[in-house]
Amino acid sequence: MVIGAQWGDEGKGKVCDHLAADMDIVIRYQGGANAGHTLVVGGTRIVLHHLPSGIWSPRSVCVIGNGCVVDPQVLVQEIDAVTSGGVTLSPERLIVSEAAHLVSPVHRFLDAHLNARLGTTVRGIGPCYTDKVQRTGIRLESLARGTWADALREQAARYERLCREVLGIGFIDVEGAIRELAPSVATLVPFIGDPVPLIHDTARAGGNILFEGAQGTFLDVDHGTYPYVTSSTTTIGGALSGGGVFASLDHRIAVIKAYTTRVGEGPFPTELTDETGARLREVGNEYGATTGRPRRCGWLDLHLCRRAVMINGFTYLAVTKLDCLSGMPTIRVAVGRDGDGAPTYASLPGWQEPIAGVTEFERLPTAARAYVDFIEQTLEVPVGMISTGPSREETIVRQAP
Ligand code: IMP
Repeated sequence: MVIGAQWGDEGKGKVCDHLAADMDIVIRYQGGANAGHTLVVGGTRIVLHHLPSGIWSPRSVCVIGNGCVVDPQVLVQEIDAVTSGGVTLSPERLIVSEAAHLVSPVHRFLDAHLNARLGTTVRGIGPCYTDKVQRTGIRLESLARGTWADALREQAARYERLCREVLGIGFIDVEGAIRELAPSVATLVPFIGDPVPLIHDTARAGGNILFEGAQGTFLDVDHGTYPYVTSSTTTIGGALSGGGVFASLDHRIAVIKAYTTRVGEGPFPTELTDETGARLREVGNEYGATTGRPRRCGWLDLHLCRRAVMINGFTYLAVTKLDCLSGMPTIRVAVGRDGDGAPTYASLPGWQEPIAGVTEFERLPTAARAYVDFIEQTLEVPVGMISTGPSREETIVRQAP
């Protein structure tokens, strides 16, 4: 299981891609097109929203689990992109759960008009999960059965009066939206199925299954900085409910960026609104993979990460973007909170040498090694992997998970 220990964008895609080569199944179990996992493969930058990172590993079956919400147009665009990148995608290699929910144009419209105060990605995520929990959602099984268009008309009818008459925000052209969706639906139908037996059989036979989290611990609808959160369970429980089957999650991997970022609104105690924050944004190219929005940047908050360890039971840490901290005179790390709830910091010496692409821990400057050791000692979980650049090769593996 790979989960972000912060507010998302920790670099989970790269860590999952690294692990996928040994996986029989890779599962995305929550979220939807709000996620953006950036990978650099063979020098090309690819952003995946729906597809698990295992899509590049020929051995892995990829599953989009029942806990996900799926926008057919986005998923089909991705299928086309990876197919033109040389990946052969058959229904044996990609299974999209029939119990996952359809993100409709109605959901996207509602998100854009009602959720601006939360700074969402405007991908329809909240409204879709709202319909799911309200038991008025459209599951992907209706795509296979051919009942989706009528279900969408019904959904639109439920919201149209509210939008036009109560909120006065207009509405979408439903028939036009159905016509636009139809080709993507047709492409997707062969991939829709029930992944439960396959996951069960693989787990029982001792196969390797990777649960690939999206977003991060503090965007979890229960454990996050509510209401500035996403609408799914991004923490460990989501892996089992959204994957759909029991599997012993024996390696629980946290991905922690060497500093902190957050997109959208909400509390961020270690945020840097000064030049140092701007520098991190430029050096780390901290712009949203899905929306292109500049990410807010700040110091690493180990006080929060400690809580993420408690919630998820992490057994292994992957620290990403360590290279982006080169050149700082001093690096601060939040280790606690004072009586007013403000962060208290430890100051650690910085290092001046560029470390991009370093692949051996021993070749890091002493201060960089000390920084990693400080994370490990504070969280009491081993740092097994360190990322020193965006591409696959720019990785230090101290200990295989
Ligand atoms: P939503 O998931 O689009 O409803 O957005 C809710 C909050 O989660 C907003 O602050 C988003 O910026 C944030 N968010 C959603 N997905 C991601 C992600 O993949 N990375 C980082 N932030 C995200």
